[in-house]
Amino acid sequence: MAGPRKLIAGNWKMNMLRGEGLDLARAVADGGVNGDVDLLVCPPSILVGAVAEALTGTGVAVGAQDCHEAQSGAFTGDISAAMVRDAGASHVILGHSERRHGLGETSERVRAKVEAAHAAGLVAIMCIGETEAERDGGKTLDVLSQQIDGSLPMGERGFAISGDDTVIAYEPVWAIGTGRTPTLDEVLAAHAHIRAHLQESLGNNANSVRILYGGSMKPENAGDLLAIDNVDGGLIGGASLKAEDFLAIAAAA
Ligand code: 13P
Repeated sequence: MAGPRKLIAGNWKMNMLRGEGLDLARAVADGGVNGDVDLLVCPPSILVGAVAEALTGTGVAVGAQDCHEAQSGAFTGDISAAMVRDAGASHVILGHSERRHGLGETSERVRAKVEAAHAAGLVAIMCIGETEAERDGGKTLDVLSQQIDGSLPMGERGFAISGDDTVIAYEPVWAIGTGRTPTLDEVLAAHAHIRAHLQESLGNNANSVRILYGGSMKPENAGDLLAIDNVDGGLIGGASLKAEDFLAIAAAA
């Protein structure tokens, strides 16, 4: 069964000054967007507006890396989902492990942010993933279910999401920025589990929800990872900072 179109998303994290970021964004767009893959770049929030403007009409989408759950108010330093949208972005990464584990962001809070993103018309890229200790303890699949259950908006009949407003990114915490990746069988099992878990609540509609793999994805391993069943794209950190590498990953998709 053919899955959804693949999405190759670059999470620039806290990298790139304005000039470099604009050069990178333009190089990605110039690399030629092929018809089979969707491309997305997620610069630091302060560059979202400039990058979105530079990419207008190119087919490369722009996302932010976080937003606050409130619509507005006294939240010094934060930005709202509506501000992200207003700056020209279509997507926002939420619940990245660097926020869950680095900043103590709970699933409850991630859920509120996903709801805020949806209300503003943004596609939420909701991240989940086990730590190395959880993996060693054989808890990976349980952790993924718990994070999904805790972080997705709920309606009366289960998850209140669709493939149009939500993407799930599976990023094993221990694989981020380490050069280590799970085996292809482990990725297969994790993605199958996530799909099945979504199906329990969404039925066949779960099949249009893209499930990305993230964690040390690079041109050398992208072809193998992206060929796995239920891997509908990648969320790329380090390798998204070089247009050449990012485009090579897109080509592998
Ligand atoms: P790396 O590709 O640098 O491992 O980062 C993955 C990631 O965290 C993307 O969100």
